[in-house]
Amino acid sequence: MENIQDMQEERFTLRNARHLAADYMRRAIRPGDTVVDATMGNGKDTLFLCELVGENGHVFAFDVQAEAVARTRERVEEAGYAGRATLLLAGHETMNEHVNRQVQAVMFNLGWLPGAQHAVTTKTGTTIAAVQAALGLIAPGGIVTICVYPGHEEGTRELQALRELAAGLDVRRYNALYHHFINAAQQTPQLLLIQKNK
Ligand SMILES: C[S@@+](CC[C@H](N)C(=O)[O-])C[C@H]1O[C@@H](n2cnc3c(N)ncnc32)[C@H](O)[C@@H]1O
Repeated sequence: MENIQDMQEERFTLRNARHLAADYMRRAIRPGDTVVDATMGNGKDTLFLCELVGENGHVFAFDVQAEAVARTRERVEEAGYAGRATLLLAGHETMNEHVNRQVQAVMFNLGWLPGAQHAVTTKTGTTIAAVQAALGLIAPGGIVTICVYPGHEEGTRELQALRELAAGLDVRRYNALYHHFINAAQQTPQLLLIQKNK
């Protein structure tokens, strides 16, 4: 069991898909781990992952927009974590080319960069290729979280393709969980969690 004191300190609150993903990351990652932020955006998740992996761990982070890499670099440097992160101006579908070791966790937060052009959103084809790469890269016991935003057309396509991919995974190799906020609006963000069996 985890440290019982930590569990008592922070009582669980069910908020939204992003918070749930962060909760799973906290439980899965230990200092010294290598992890991936597949969608850097404003760098909030990259910073969060840098904190979890500690000074001996490492975060590989991806985004296709220079603006996202710049915003993330600023955030990470300000926190004094520059040495913990490799920020790549590259599509997450190229993850295998850049990450040369097993990782404990891969975090996807799909959609577009808040405050930037909506045209540069994640796309179904590259998202599926990246999730497949992530499933290959995670160590036994490692996790992949994917926050999906079905409030726009491409997001709806991504959700359908991701659900098919997750539902088709061999249960002897992976456990896949689909979190759907059942009493909320249809477009409410949803979360997929996949763990590679030990
Ligand atoms: C919702 S934002 C991510 C938010 C971010 N995690 C944060 O903490 O601020 C989605 C990001 O995915 C990026 N993106 C789109 N296509 C991508 C691809 N093929 N590979 C990597 N990132 C991509 C977008 O540029 C955008 O910055």
